[in-house]
Amino acid sequence: MSEKRLDGAVALVTGGGSGIGAAVAESLAKRGAQLVLAGRREDRLHAITNSLQPSGVALPVDVTAPGAPGQIVDEIIGRFGRLDVVVHAAGIFEKRPITETDEAFWHRTLDVNLSAVVALTRSAWGRLAESAGQIVLISSVAALQGFAENTAYAASKGGLNAIGEVLREEGRAEGIRVLTICPAQTDTELWDGSAPPDVRSRMMQASGVGDVVASLIASDRSIDFAPVILRPPSNPWVTDG
Ligand SMILES: NC(=O)c1ccc[n+]([C@@H]2O[C@H](COP(=O)([O-])OP(=O)(O)OC[C@H]3O[C@@H](n4cnc5c(N)ncnc54)[C@H](OP(=O)(O)O)[C@@H]3O)[C@@H](O)[C@H]2O)c1
Repeated sequence: MSEKRLDGAVALVTGGGSGIGAAVAESLAKRGAQLVLAGRREDRLHAITNSLQPSGVALPVDVTAPGAPGQIVDEIIGRFGRLDVVVHAAGIFEKRPITETDEAFWHRTLDVNLSAVVALTRSAWGRLAESAGQIVLISSVAALQGFAENTAYAASKGGLNAIGEVLREEGRAEGIRVLTICPAQTDTELWDGSAPPDVRSRMMQASGVGDVVASLIASDRSIDFAPVILRPPSNPWVTDG
């Protein structure tokens, strides 16, 4: 089957300097899209943008900073004059029991994983309506399934799934498609310090997740998707023997 192309499309990927965001960017670039990657670590962004063909644009920014969403969209429109795809992959994850889920931790998790997504979507909406574009929410299976010590993260991802359904309704009138992706365990630096190497070796590869997400973005626009769950063949934390 031939790969559907995205030539001429301009795609913004938050969290594009590492992990799933970087993998989605690489797969979108292979399909011909122009990439703009946002994240805080400039060196990580440049490492990815320089490796893309065509090369991408690095936007070092904290997505929670006041005014950041408007600046990101203005920068993209100034350079390219259009915006077709926004992939919200920036996110933070830390396991904490409810007794240690203090106000600061709760707010930081919700700020990065949920509020910043809403703010950037609001800023990008008009431009996405002009291009009949697409919004991709990188949520998690944690939106659908309970894992211990996960209150703040689960709330943020459950919120993403909920707004994905709302934006889908609002987007229909504008020709905007909204894709909600719920990956299970994927081997990225998100797991640094909390999953041993043998467990990580059984997780999904970020490159594979990136390929699937890019193929959904490039797919026939007469098809819509319910939240898409991506999971490894078996639970990476459980061995047979
Ligand atoms: N790995 C998994 O098992 C898994 C499973 C389900 C869902 N997810 C979701 O997938 C997304 C990507 O995670 P990942 O696994 O690829 O881990 P990752 O490599 O740690 O990616 C997270 C990215 O978010 C960026 N980021 C964090 N805070 C930011 C902020 N305030 N402003 C701008 N960028 C920020 C980070 O870049 P900087 O630090 O440079 O800012 C980093 O590039 C996250 O939303 C995560 O919740 C991951």
